[in-house]
Amino acid sequence: MERGRDRYAIYCTPCHGQDGRGAGMIVARGLTPAGDLTSGRWRAAPASEVYGAIANGYRSMLPMASMIPSADRWAIVAYVRALQLSRDASVAALPPADRAALEAVR
Ligand code: HEC
Repeated sequence: MERGRDRYAIYCTPCHGQDGRGAGMIVARGLTPAGDLTSGRWRAAPASEVYGAIANGYRSMLPMASMIPSADRWAIVAYVRALQLSRDASVAALPPADRAALEAVR
């Protein structure tokens, strides 16, 4: 999961944003809006479809198979699942230490 978070930050955040909803910095500068990875459509999609989008591209998104090795693609898929789960998570569901850290920055 840590590896996936690290690779996601490098390869996906510029377009899809830190939260996966598609509002990355590149999109803010005029590129085609990147899809929302946390939408119901992608939550319901099998992991292999997310993997396939990374490897083969998706409509106007370029394939990244030559940049991201297979094991890292799966790590990114796992992290995308975590982003999907966290989207509607309540603060009460966080472990106490994480909740305290969140309260500290509010
Ligand atoms: C250079 C920008 C860019 C990068 C980097 C990028 N994407 Fe995308 N991605 C896009 C765009 C743009 C679309 C929408 C393509 C379209 O609709 O024509 C998209 C679409 C997708 C979709 C389909 C979502 C949907 O419904 O439109 C998935 C899944 C996806 N990307 C995953 C990823 C993952 C995972 C990474 C990191 C490994 C990544 N992308 C990196 C630009 C990017």
